[in-house]
Amino acid sequence: MTSEVVVLPDVDAVMWEAASRVAAAGRAAMAERGRFTLALSGGSTPRELFRLLAMGEWMIRVPWEATHIFWADDRCVPPDDPDSNYGVARATLLSRLPTPPEQIHRWFGDAPDPTAEAARYAAELREHTDAGAGGMPRLDLILLGMGDDGHTASLFPRSPALAVEGEPTATSESSAPPTQRLTLTYPALNAARNVIFLVAGAGKAVTLARVLDGRAAADELPARGVRPNDGALTWLVDEAAAARLTR
Ligand code: 6PG
Repeated sequence: MTSEVVVLPDVDAVMWEAASRVAAAGRAAMAERGRFTLALSGGSTPRELFRLLAMGEWMIRVPWEATHIFWADDRCVPPDDPDSNYGVARATLLSRLPTPPEQIHRWFGDAPDPTAEAARYAAELREHTDAGAGGMPRLDLILLGMGDDGHTASLFPRSPALAVEGEPTATSESSAPPTQRLTLTYPALNAARNVIFLVAGAGKAVTLARVLDGRAAADELPARGVRPNDGALTWLVDEAAAARLTR
C-alpha cells in the first residue's frame, strides 16, 4: 500500500484535485483494462465533487461511457428519498453522464430484506469488476468521506460490519436516521486499486488527527481500517480539516 495526505487550501481546491485524480484513474483503467470501475459515497463533501464532475470541462476528461458506477454504501430508503446516496448522485451527476444505465449499479435501498440485498449487491460487484486476491471484487477507485465520528461508508464505530471477512458487502446500523444501511466492508474497500478520502472543514480536524496521527483502534475510528492491501490510499483534505495534524 502507498499512502499520502495532500493538504489543499480550501474545499474547492480539494474538489479540483479529486476531479483530476478521478480523471487520471479513469484514463489509466481504460488504457489497462478497457473499463473504469468507480464507487461513490454519500455526504455533503462527496456531493461537491459530483457537481464539479458534471461540468463540461470535466465531463470530457473521464471515460464515462466505459465507467461502471457503484456506491460504497447507501441507506435503506427508496431512490427518490432525499437521504438516498444514489438519488443525490443521480440529481447532481448521473443525469448528465453518457454512462449507459446498465452500468449504474445502485443498491436497492428499497429492498424488503437488506441482508438479501447485500448478497445481491455482492454478486453484482463480482460480475462487473475484476477479481482481486481471494476473489474479492477489486474496484479501480473508491471515493470515501469521513464522518466526525470517524465512520466511513456505512462502517460505524463498534459496528459488527467492521468484523466481516471474506464478503464485500454487509448491512449496518447508524445512530443517525436512516438507521438501516447497506455498505461495502473492509475486504472490499481494501481490495481497491485506489481509495481517496475527501475531508474538509474545521469540524473534522480533531477526528482527522485521531485517524491519521492517533493510536485509536479502527473499531473506534473505522476510517483507520481502510488500508488497501495492494493499492494507493490518498487523503485529500483542506487546511481547516488538517489544522490538528502533527506531521
Ligand atoms: C453516508 C456516507 C458517509 C459520508 C460521511 C461524510 O452515506 O452518509 O457514505 O460515509 O461520506 O458521513 O459525510 P460529510 O462529507 O457530509 O461529512
